[in-house]
Amino acid sequence: MKKSNGNLVHSFNIAVFISGRGSNLLSIIKKSLNRNSLFRVSLVLSNKGSAKGLKLAKKYGIKTLISDFTKSKAKEKKVIKIVNKNQIKLICLAGFMKILSNNFIKSFKGKIINIHPSLLPKYKGLNTHEKVVKNKDTYTGCTVHFVTKKLDSGEIILKKKVRVKINDNKITIEKKVLKIEHKIYPEAIVKVLSNF
Ligand code: GRF
Repeated sequence: MKKSNGNLVHSFNIAVFISGRGSNLLSIIKKSLNRNSLFRVSLVLSNKGSAKGLKLAKKYGIKTLISDFTKSKAKEKKVIKIVNKNQIKLICLAGFMKILSNNFIKSFKGKIINIHPSLLPKYKGLNTHEKVVKNKDTYTGCTVHFVTKKLDSGEIILKKKVRVKINDNKITIEKKVLKIEHKIYPEAIVKVLSNF
């Protein structure tokens, strides 16, 4: 962490990759605006131009990029270049619904993290809340983990549990889990950056 006039200043540029709503993006942006924040969101990338999160990014004056780069090597190369040019130290996937290539993951080894709406290693992949309901689990939660080539399997950074009640359904569970996602994702970012 650097100091200027005795105050702590932003040290790390991070990028957030989204595909939709962007509620995790908002929680990350809010944390970054705290005095003495260790990071600032310098780039928001979406694979879809219609992602609501892009509007949020613009509202906060953050640079945005729309690129479905997982579909083309040339586009991927461009995104790698842009990430490097912006001196991005950490890429945070937040509802980014595309699989990154091995080449992309290798290019930012140990520098890509993701939030997953289950208590990993339980329920990798999609439809996690449906699985919780179907199996009558009494707990669920969310996990922030490093991204590796094996889906939802990288080292766990932070995990948080939430209780599932008898009357809960997919929608109420999603709400509860999202609430704790918003809490732990910014915390996980700080945890990772503190080790850089
Ligand atoms: C979250 O539930 C996240 O865990 C999952 O996708 C959802 C994204 O929500 N990977 P949002 O776009 O951050 O609101």
